[in-house]
Amino acid sequence: DLYSNAIIAGNKPIATTDPNKLEDAARKAMSPEGFNYVFGGAGEQSTMAANRLAFRQWKLIPRFLRPTVPRDLRIDLFGKTYDTPVLMAPVGVQSAYHPDAERGVASACADLGVPFICSTASSQNLEDVFSPESSDAAKGPRWFQLYWPLDDEITASILGRAKSVGCEVLVVTLDTFTMAWRPLDLDAGYLPFATGTGNAIGFNDPVFRRKFAERFDGDTPEDNVVMASRYWTSEAFSGHAHKWEDVQTLRKLWDGPIVLKGILSVEDALMAARNGVDGIVVSNHGGRQLDGAVPSLEMLPEIVDAVGGRLTVLFDSGIRTGADMMKALALGAQAVLVGRPVIYGLGVAGTEGARHVLAGLLADLDQSMGLAGVQTVKELNRSILRKVNYGG
Ligand code: FNR
Repeated sequence: DLYSNAIIAGNKPIATTDPNKLEDAARKAMSPEGFNYVFGGAGEQSTMAANRLAFRQWKLIPRFLRPTVPRDLRIDLFGKTYDTPVLMAPVGVQSAYHPDAERGVASACADLGVPFICSTASSQNLEDVFSPESSDAAKGPRWFQLYWPLDDEITASILGRAKSVGCEVLVVTLDTFTMAWRPLDLDAGYLPFATGTGNAIGFNDPVFRRKFAERFDGDTPEDNVVMASRYWTSEAFSGHAHKWEDVQTLRKLWDGPIVLKGILSVEDALMAARNGVDGIVVSNHGGRQLDGAVPSLEMLPEIVDAVGGRLTVLFDSGIRTGADMMKALALGAQAVLVGRPVIYGLGVAGTEGARHVLAGLLADLDQSMGLAGVQTVKELNRSILRKVNYGG
């Protein structure tokens, strides 16, 4: 079972299963810029801290003398059954944390049946991450996250490629049409996109390349990287958000499920439903975008009440334990995304580290469900929760 597998791994790639010690281990193992880029939140990191406090305000009420085995962690999303209610959040620039990068994390996910959501800001190209010849990642479920370019032809080309490498669901991130004020990165002068890292999917896109070649011609290859980075940034992070009407364009360019990531208001959740998307991720980007934004857990119940019957509601931001996952699922999320913990695993011990952290989180979820008297994910509902006004 999941729990004993986590314990038996005698040659553990990481010496701890404690989420806070994992963060310390990553701080020691990774380059300072790499660690700070992953760890850091926007502004004074108040939303990042509030994400954790929001989890602490919900407490679980366990039930006993009920069947809890065999546990069933499976869920259905968009007509497909997945092994667990956990997905790997899209995280860009993974070569900055460990050379195993996206391919390593995607392989770890494939091994555990966890969908890998490949970021547009990947450091490895889509076709390389999921190359059936050389990558275990090609065996697992995969979704694609879009940083939505202004140019529809570039968008069409990238989405066509995502489809042809087998991505099943499109996740369109709304909260990052411009980068946030992130003091740790600003102070270190660290901006991975400026040097081309994290631009692999854009840079290797044939339509992007054609348009770039038509407009620019630098004297040296380095000039070209800098100019291409600027051009790419102006396409995907220009500060010009799209409008709700533009969702129709995405519909034309993508024939699978579409999920909007970054929703924090009931009104936007209703707009998502009205505009015909299939799902949303209630998320504040792990506290990395608008500092002062509300914790996503705080908004989750209202959003589920408003649109849960019509849309698939997913959740992320601040999940560190199995109990956290249970709380979000009990509040109505159909599945949860995890970001930083798995990336810390990658930073400490590459593919094996990412796998170890993810396997531990699944084991913790499994174990916590059992302890709460819950056998299946479908049983989770608000009756097992109590909101308290103290943290701890
Ligand atoms: C992110 N996130 C993110 N989201 C996205 O849609 N595209 C991306 O490229 C990235 N890149 C990224 C890099 C790093 C280093 C982090 C930590 C996060 C946000 C991510 O998908 C998710 O919303 C948060 O990570 C969830 O919060 P936790 O689990 O990290 O607390």
